[in-house]
Amino acid sequence: MHSIFLVLCLSHVLMTNSVLFVQPLCHEDERSALLQFKLGFSIEKFAAEDPSAYPKMESWKIEGEHGNCCSWHGIKCDEITGHVIGLNISSSFIYGSIDSNRSLFRLVHLRRLNLAGNNFNYSKVPSTIGSLPRLTHLDLLNSKFSGEFPRGIFLLPKLQFLTVQYHLHLVS
Ligand SMILES: *[C@@H]1O[C@H](CO)[C@@H](O)[C@H](O)[C@H]1NC(C)=O
Ligand SMILES: *[C@@H]1O[C@H](CO)[C@@H](O)[C@H](O)[C@H]1NC(C)=O
Ligand SMILES: *[C@@H]1O[C@H](CO)[C@@H](O)[C@H](O)[C@H]1NC(C)=O
Repeated sequence: MHSIFLVLCLSHVLMTNSVLFVQPLCHEDERSALLQFKLGFSIEKFAAEDPSAYPKMESWKIEGEHGNCCSWHGIKCDEITGHVIGLNISSSFIYGSIDSNRSLFRLVHLRRLNLAGNNFNYSKVPSTIGSLPRLTHLDLLNSKFSGEFPRGIFLLPKLQFLTVQYHLHLVS
């Protein structure tokens, strides 16, 4: 109750005081999903090859003025609802295995997901990506995924762009 009330007050202040730009406020559950996601990885120089790579997730923290996840690097929120609709952590020096229950699936409002140019340690593409119903763009290029590709992703009703490069191991 208390936290809901606080959020409403803050957005009211933002709307009345900021004429030029209104930063939407991030939802608590989505912020904690993002922080949990971040915890599962380490940031390693070798994990990205792109010369313009930088560790986007380093701006993901809740201290001081950083609490609004809509202002974190790589995050795009819907301007009206504040839900996270874009996650672009391409070339962010991310290293580590990713599993299906690593909190990404809680971002059900995601439309664009870009994990390209990192090092996911040859783990499988998480099958839970196939249960993000609003996904339109998915970029998994050059991220060191391997193993079975989840079929559910091909069944996503709104998916328009899928970028993936795969090493196929054909059984003879
Ligand atoms: C994702 O972020 C990179 C910068 O790290 C940028 O070059 C690229 O255009 C972004 N992609 C999308 C779809 O926003
Ligand atoms: C990378 O994958 C190997 C093999 O599955 C695993 O033993 C290791 O813990 C993983 N390392 C990281 C950082 O996820
Ligand atoms: C993910 O799910 C597996 C079983 O499906 C479970 O063993 C593991 O503890 C779960 N991990 C987390 C972080 O919930």
